[in-house]
Amino acid sequence: MAKREKADSAAEARFEGLPAALLDWYGRHARSLPWRIGPGKRAEGVVPDPYRVWLAEIMLQQTTVPHAAGYFETFTRTWPTVEALAGAEDSDVMAAWAGLGYYARARNLLKCAREVTARGSWPRTEAGLRDLPGIGPYTAGAVAALAFGEPAAAVDGNVDRVFSRLMATKGDWKEEKRRIAETVKATVPGDRPGEFAEALMDLGATVCTPKRPNCLICPLRDWCAAYAEGTPDQYPIKPAKKTKPVRYGEVYVVRGPSGVAVETRPPHGLLGGMLGLPTTAWLQDDRPERAAWMTGGSEIGEVKHVFTHFELRLLVVTAGDTAALPQGYGFKDEETVGAALPSAFRKALKLAS
Ligand code: ADE
Repeated sequence: MAKREKADSAAEARFEGLPAALLDWYGRHARSLPWRIGPGKRAEGVVPDPYRVWLAEIMLQQTTVPHAAGYFETFTRTWPTVEALAGAEDSDVMAAWAGLGYYARARNLLKCAREVTARGSWPRTEAGLRDLPGIGPYTAGAVAALAFGEPAAAVDGNVDRVFSRLMATKGDWKEEKRRIAETVKATVPGDRPGEFAEALMDLGATVCTPKRPNCLICPLRDWCAAYAEGTPDQYPIKPAKKTKPVRYGEVYVVRGPSGVAVETRPPHGLLGGMLGLPTTAWLQDDRPERAAWMTGGSEIGEVKHVFTHFELRLLVVTAGDTAALPQGYGFKDEETVGAALPSAFRKALKLAS
């Protein structure tokens, strides 16, 4: 027997009965979420809208369900179809995304919508979805299973945690994650892969939580090696996180009669394509140099913001519109701008208000 098949059949034997128990639990405890059709609906012939499934998955990659829900509502109201989103102005989409973070995702979101619209339909398989901009292994698996019923696995951090506990993984985390992905794939039931994926998401969010998992109500307890050991909350065992380097800079809140000075940032790089306040470069030196054009500002405090690879500390400086702003900046209504600024700048504007 090939190695792969051996792993598959081992997982099948070890987790026999698990999918049915999980799906049964899901039928009773599924969260009702705006991008879902609901448990049992597919069997009744209800077909999920791949646009809504995909949009939710992109939003939920690094964001919690409560934070994403309002954005999802706004996006689907403003752009109800993938074709509508494809026809949107880039700046409108970037502004609507502000506050969700990871702005490369918003740029890829538009690219993907335009590609799907140009093709005329969504690819319906995991492999086909992988070819689209911004769709990695997790999203391809999730959309294939949730929208198209393909028996694909959708393994994110929550699913890693659930299976790490089921399997009581103790080895090198990278290697264990690979083993988990294979095991999940071998456990996905062919007839209800989408509900299986949603059930795992819900279990991870509400029962098999990172801290203090509620094992007493867990439908998978009988299969759980970590529960049998008595220490489920110690899993997954991962290498310690590296502390993030800190970068420093100054940010300028320059107000004039018609609002606050902003620019549209260059299309690529950090916060690319988003609106931004004037700022110095963000460097390791904890005493950033004042921008040459900025004279007579008042220092009003510091804001912090955590990005994927570093923590940013910005000294907020306010000034009137006599400051000799460099080219590319314009004054915009503060309230409108506030909603369209990425969080790091939004915090600075709030501190200065
Ligand atoms: N996390 C990632 N995708 C999700 C989804 N579709 N529903 C709930 N939580 C999720």
